[in-house]
Amino acid sequence: VLVLCGGGVAVATWTLVRATDTVGEVDFVRPLAVPPLADSRLDDQGRRVFDLIAREGRRDFRGDGRLTRTAGFDGDFLGPTLRAKRGEQVRVNVVNKLGEETNVHWHGMHLPARMDGGPHQLVRPGATWSPTWRVDQPAATLWYHPHPHGATEEQVYRGLAGMFILDDDREAALPLPRTYGVDDVPVIVQDRSFSRSGQFSKTRNSIASIGVLGDTLLVNGTVGPYLDVRTERVRLRLLNASTARTYNFGLSDDRPFALIGTDGGLLARTARLTRIRLSPGERAEIVVDVRPGERVTLRSTPPDLGIGGLSRRSAGGADRLDVLQLRAASTLTPAPPVPDTLVPVDRLDPSAAATTRTLEFQGRGINGRSMRMDRIDFAATRDTTEVWEVLNSDGTPHNFHVHDVQFQLLSVDGAAPPPELGGWKDTIYLPPHRPMRIVLRFTDHSDPNLPYMYHCHLLWHEDSGMMGQFVVVEPGQAPGRPPTHAGHG
Ligand code: C2O
Ligand code: CU
Repeated sequence: VLVLCGGGVAVATWTLVRATDTVGEVDFVRPLAVPPLADSRLDDQGRRVFDLIAREGRRDFRGDGRLTRTAGFDGDFLGPTLRAKRGEQVRVNVVNKLGEETNVHWHGMHLPARMDGGPHQLVRPGATWSPTWRVDQPAATLWYHPHPHGATEEQVYRGLAGMFILDDDREAALPLPRTYGVDDVPVIVQDRSFSRSGQFSKTRNSIASIGVLGDTLLVNGTVGPYLDVRTERVRLRLLNASTARTYNFGLSDDRPFALIGTDGGLLARTARLTRIRLSPGERAEIVVDVRPGERVTLRSTPPDLGIGGLSRRSAGGADRLDVLQLRAASTLTPAPPVPDTLVPVDRLDPSAAATTRTLEFQGRGINGRSMRMDRIDFAATRDTTEVWEVLNSDGTPHNFHVHDVQFQLLSVDGAAPPPELGGWKDTIYLPPHRPMRIVLRFTDHSDPNLPYMYHCHLLWHEDSGMMGQFVVVEPGQAPGRPPTHAGHG
């Protein structure tokens, strides 16, 4: 693998593109790290309280003695898995021990805007921010990461991210693997490049302008990971926490797996697939069947990004990447088959839509505008349904993420969505020039002054202004103004 450093931008970029083409041969030499479940306690008001300390660290990722400067929550890299049940009140004490402002956004969570951890909820160095909210949504695999405007890519790339699992009674009643770290395992996938001295290298891929594409995969922070499997079935909670790269996950022998859940929770029906494409920020819960004694690799093959030629290669679309080796024990604990029917999913009714909006992703902005902290782009009304037509019109890979709500896809370029896009979603890949129609419903948590974000989750694009702000207002209420000077603590 070629090492990048110095040189002109164009040379470095080409080097990176060629280097990523050859990625894929991985020696699986380290047991997969499993993020610990975060400790919590119940306070006198019955709230589940977590502490999350953002801090700097160092880690030798490749066992060669070179220490990479990192950041993490409660540790050197990534953070513990937070876990709470539907109906519970949670409170998270976010302590900022970094030397700079940060914050924590609860990606996929339905909650009041002032608890959302968006760019308006900054935590100064040394300060503590304690958002509290009631979990009011189905069981799902969510995640958390910083969101300071302009610095999200850098902070996530350094290692600030973690998983947030929600539980509920419906999920608990299904015969699914759910022993954390044993047959129910977080798989947080990130790509990184290392400089000669072992630091994370942030050479951006300027040909396709999508951001950083690394040549080394980290899974839960582990390079070259394997997982010992002792049960006939293993549930993998896949999270693409990369800053720019889109993956197309499958098994090395193309065996089908059961897709049971997407961003916002379980599907109505299990989908048997051989591949699942995940762009940055998306999640999928899959159940993989293994046979005694075998080794099978979770792998990413080139995703269909809907773009061709050079731009496809430079967007990471030509890479085959080995992710995680599953090593099945010679004797496996039996596990029941994954049911075909999972949970009821209410369909939102687009014919009830109060408003239809178009969001066009192009260049450095949305609808021709770049993000401004002091501008609210539109207001949605509480207890209404909206239809949004989201379009990538510049041919570069983008995706779309919205805060506060989970949405449903109505159509992809006029056609019915495939099963993997048929459930609750908060992030979707936007193939160029193919309009995606989604339906969303805004319920509680109105606040005319404090906005939620919608944006491209390729973090360099987000930081560069491909983001907008909306508020949820009471019927008849006008949008207000975001606070001019943000900050807490
Ligand atoms: Cu995962 Cu607005 O973010
Ligand atoms: Cu983008």
